[in-house]
Amino acid sequence: MEIFKTKKTLLDYIERQKEMGKKIGFAPTMGALHQGHLSLYAEARKDNDLVISSIFVNPTQFNNAADLEKYPRTIENDIKALEQSGFVDAVYIPEVNDIYPDGLKSKSYDFDGLESEMEGKFRPGHFDGVGTVVEELFQQVKPDNAYFGDKDYQQLAIIKKLAEKHNLPIKIHGVPIYRENSGLAMSSRNQRLDSTQREAAKVIFETLVKVNDWFRVITVPEINQRVKDIFENQRGMALEYFLIADESTLKETDFFYKDRNYRAFIVVNVGDVRLIDNIHLD
Ligand code: PAJ
Repeated sequence: MEIFKTKKTLLDYIERQKEMGKKIGFAPTMGALHQGHLSLYAEARKDNDLVISSIFVNPTQFNNAADLEKYPRTIENDIKALEQSGFVDAVYIPEVNDIYPDGLKSKSYDFDGLESEMEGKFRPGHFDGVGTVVEELFQQVKPDNAYFGDKDYQQLAIIKKLAEKHNLPIKIHGVPIYRENSGLAMSSRNQRLDSTQREAAKVIFETLVKVNDWFRVITVPEINQRVKDIFENQRGMALEYFLIADESTLKETDFFYKDRNYRAFIVVNVGDVRLIDNIHLD
């Protein structure tokens, strides 16, 4: 596996690969890699000649300095995991200067309102930071296909919108959420849970499965109330938000219309670890 630590070496490599007509699949990450990340590369392997990863903890998408500080950084292990996976041809590990030559600031985007829902309300500026880094990485890596997890469903929707609005010649693919055996969605943040918290956190996905059972059986307000009740009884856990949204607009719904697709979204703080999950309702 090739490792590029500067923009210049990456650009030279990409140019050579493009000249050879190679089809490039790309999935950006912030490192602390786990099976969920590797599943993106397994997917990319299926329809590309080259699979490229990037690892960059993007400062502009953190609206909280402490969160940025605490973000796990495990670069040596990450490189090993990518190598051992056998899915990845090259990894790009840029310096801040390679992405932000003019200083650490985000562009501001209009994602047709997607950016104002859910995470947008709780993390101001977050999606401008994500848009800025992903647009820049796309310009440097020049992928044909790019892969993002359904785990961050709003992010995936926003990247699709970015590609559409900026006419980027890149196909954006969503990859199903990879879960631990307990059902807990894999996340870099799970490392910060102790064993009791990790066990308790199973309730997040168990609740989403129940919500799916209740879908179109009871009303949306009834579902919302039941979810609140479940988390009121969980020690050491606080429900930040739960809502059911239209899958295309991400706007919260209080009624299930026929012929629309819905998804349930949840954010729970387990101790000081913020966990996020979602499920398509069918
Ligand atoms: P990060 O949190 O490292 O996630 C990188 C990619 O892995 C994202 O597309 C995310 O949705 C996906 N992912 C994480 N956990 C997953 C799981 N359990 N199953 C499937 N996919 C999973 O998301 C980011 O980084 C950043 O915002 C980034 C896009 C890299 C921009 O900085």
